[in-house]
Amino acid sequence: MFDLNEDTITDAVLDRFAGTPDARLKHLVQATVRHLHALVRETEPTFEEWRVAIDFLTRTGQMCSDVRQEFILLSDVLGVSMLVDAINHRQPDGATETTVLGPFHVADAPQPPHGADISAGLPGEKLLVEGTVVAASGIPLAGAVVEVWSADQDGFYDVQRSDLSEPALRATFPTDRDGRFPFWTLMPAHYPIPADGPVGDLLGATGRHPYRPAHVHFMISADGHEQLVTHIFAEDSLYLDSDAVFGVKTSLIQPFEPKPAGTAPDGRLLDQPWRHLVRRFGLKAASSALELSDIRTKSYSMSDN
Ligand code: BEZ
Ligand code: FE
Repeated sequence: MFDLNEDTITDAVLDRFAGTPDARLKHLVQATVRHLHALVRETEPTFEEWRVAIDFLTRTGQMCSDVRQEFILLSDVLGVSMLVDAINHRQPDGATETTVLGPFHVADAPQPPHGADISAGLPGEKLLVEGTVVAASGIPLAGAVVEVWSADQDGFYDVQRSDLSEPALRATFPTDRDGRFPFWTLMPAHYPIPADGPVGDLLGATGRHPYRPAHVHFMISADGHEQLVTHIFAEDSLYLDSDAVFGVKTSLIQPFEPKPAGTAPDGRLLDQPWRHLVRRFGLKAASSALELSDIRTKSYSMSDN
């Protein structure tokens, strides 16, 4: 196959992948070719523009390390992460909506007791979080594992600060028999996503700001349920309507209630005003759990016969 031109090359490339043994891989690769060729036809890049595009992707890869994933950041600012999330989470009523994971989750965070203050001595307005985890039906889920993390009053996560020797503003809590997990942290600030790499350059060149509204991250796992990755956004934050990564959903915005100095519901005495966040998280039953119980039912009935 030669003498290909702009009218024939797309079909020639699609044909070359026609024998891909895995049907899903074939669909993914051929769709990628079709859409890339359509992009080039629509934009008709010059060689110089094509070189700049390749250089941008090269720098994006070179920016990646154990602690930095610039391609995920690129997917985030292009809205692709939230589109993949939307397609994969068509939730029933009762389940809390999902949003982006972001780059600041750290596995194996400390496991302090319920009611602990996880601010590790950092300055800021105290925030009492009283969370409850329930199944989509509303039944409390005991023994769920809740990972929480958030930025400080200056908009930095602990992993972005070189002056901290221990984790701060992050922890893992099991839920109690009523599905509850209370803890104290600090009121987070809005903050810019990492903007010192090619993704930051893209935002700058296109006149976009890099900010995310103030939020607390939650990642919740429970047997027989889909893992929930979400945030709760502070109702009074800046940037709710222009999140750099398109992650805000109305159902995830709520007041972090301002409270005067005094005694908190757990008996803690505060000499400064503080904030209170009360939130229920609904988890969706895992479809794999249903399939597994189907298989078990079938194999039991087979051995019974
Ligand atoms: C975050 O919320 O931590 C985050 C999410 C996406 C990109 C950068 C940061
Ligand atoms: Fe965040």
